[in-house]
Amino acid sequence: MLPELHRRVHDRFGAGTRRVTFCLSLLVLIATTLMAVACEDREPVAPPPPTADFQPTATVEDLMRVMIDPAADAMWDAVVVTSTPDGLEEQRPETDDEWLALERDAILLLEAGNLLQIEHRPVAAPDSVSQLPGVDLEPADIAARIVASPDAWQRSARELHDAGVVMLEAVQARNVEALLAGGDRLDATCENCHSRFWYPSDP
Ligand code: HEC
Repeated sequence: MLPELHRRVHDRFGAGTRRVTFCLSLLVLIATTLMAVACEDREPVAPPPPTADFQPTATVEDLMRVMIDPAADAMWDAVVVTSTPDGLEEQRPETDDEWLALERDAILLLEAGNLLQIEHRPVAAPDSVSQLPGVDLEPADIAARIVASPDAWQRSARELHDAGVVMLEAVQARNVEALLAGGDRLDATCENCHSRFWYPSDP
């Protein structure tokens, strides 16, 4: 009698616990489903994009003088064909070191194209003045032109990047013909930007 009662009490208690557990699980399931449905309708909230924090310390003039001009000169001087009484003499990169130096210069050029696209870079130092007044614009006038035609400026800078990529591919392929052709394109790139932003009144 006693063990029998005990078992019945135990069963009832056990069944009750199971029922509570079942109800709780059901509630959790319903809640989860509701939340999932509710969330599906909402646009996922993208985290705000990280803002670029460039510090354009060097001026455009600095980049030209220390980075772009020397690298471009190295490209143009890499292949030199001279006419001699004995015929044409071609001077071209031969050693691994010579090709490596050219690779470095091509990378400087193409990344300089990106540096020129960073906004708010000063054109020149505050005390800088035009070397050829009347032909070369003053830095303040160049800056005003860049502000007036930001797209043209960005395109010219991008073109420098792209010409640098052409040079890099020529160097990596050790292709002298491609180096010469790329050199012409590079030259046009400098000229396009200069004739628009630096000496626009030069005939
Ligand atoms: C996106 C435009 C742009 C491109 C591309 C560009 N330049 Fe310039 N460059 C300028 C501007 C603007 C100045 C004038 C800055 C100043 O001196 O005030 C300048 C000035 C120069 C100067 C004179 C720097 C000095 O000491 O006063 C040299 C040299 C030069 N560039 C070489 C080059 C060469 C070489 C290339 C191509 C490989 C080139 N630039 C491509 C915009 C450009």
